[in-house]
Amino acid sequence: MDKQLRQELFEQAQEWMLEAGERIREKIDDPRSIETKSNPNDLVTEMDRNTEQFFAEKIKETYPDHLLFGEEGLGDEIEDLAGTVWIVDPIDGTMNFVHQKRNFAISVGIYVEGEGEIGFIYDVMDDILYSAKKGEGAKKNGKDLPQLNAERPLHESILAFNTTWLLPENPHVDHQGMQKLIKHLRSTRSYGSAALELAYVAEGIIDGYLTMSLMPWDIAAGIILIKEAGGTVARADGKDLDMLTKTTLLASRANIHEEIISEYVTLKK
Ligand code: IPD
Ligand code: CA
Ligand code: CA
Ligand code: CA
Repeated sequence: MDKQLRQELFEQAQEWMLEAGERIREKIDDPRSIETKSNPNDLVTEMDRNTEQFFAEKIKETYPDHLLFGEEGLGDEIEDLAGTVWIVDPIDGTMNFVHQKRNFAISVGIYVEGEGEIGFIYDVMDDILYSAKKGEGAKKNGKDLPQLNAERPLHESILAFNTTWLLPENPHVDHQGMQKLIKHLRSTRSYGSAALELAYVAEGIIDGYLTMSLMPWDIAAGIILIKEAGGTVARADGKDLDMLTKTTLLASRANIHEEIISEYVTLKK
């Protein structure tokens, strides 16, 4: 994508990110309409839908040939990543939004012919906007994030990981390997927003994020940020990510990525 075009698109998308965040902040204490989706803990609110609708209208008005691939299904039916596709999670961390009224983000990744060109992760309540442009680095509130080139060893690393992956009934990953990993690490964290967890890896305030099941809208922006910050991101078996389906994921500083996959993580079918 042409640099000038990327810059124009970036500025427009940034304006909408900030506006969408402002609308959420204004209504943060309003009564919520909370519904459940796939299970009783899978929440969705009117604000998730309103925010996706906001992007759907803006994009259709301004860029009628762009497509929207969003969690709440108010955009387009996407079968491939041909053309320009906005991959939008209107609220990532809906449970945090409902219970805590903080620690959630708007995540928007813009892909052109399958290439991640622009990524935004907006921590709405703290008003922190992480952004990245392909080949131009990652930023936090407009300030460059340093490259993740420190060779911090695994035993001094903090990994974001959700403990539910270690419940006996959860078959995705070999538990012994994971327990060995957790003992070896400095510590684990669990923030409840995949987008923020990816932004924190890009920022270098945690060293990695490992998860067994995410959707494209959870990771579309984060992947661009991690790559631009010099980190490594792939499926949890080390293979390339597929931006159209549910996936496992390991994002981390480069020097621990291969070690975590080869020595600790064994995925189960
Ligand atoms: C969820 C959050 C959560 C992750 C879930 C996602 P949502 O997204 O990112 O941290 O563990 O897998 O579905 O539903 O709040 O947008
Ligand atoms: Ca959701
Ligand atoms: Ca999400
Ligand atoms: Ca969501």
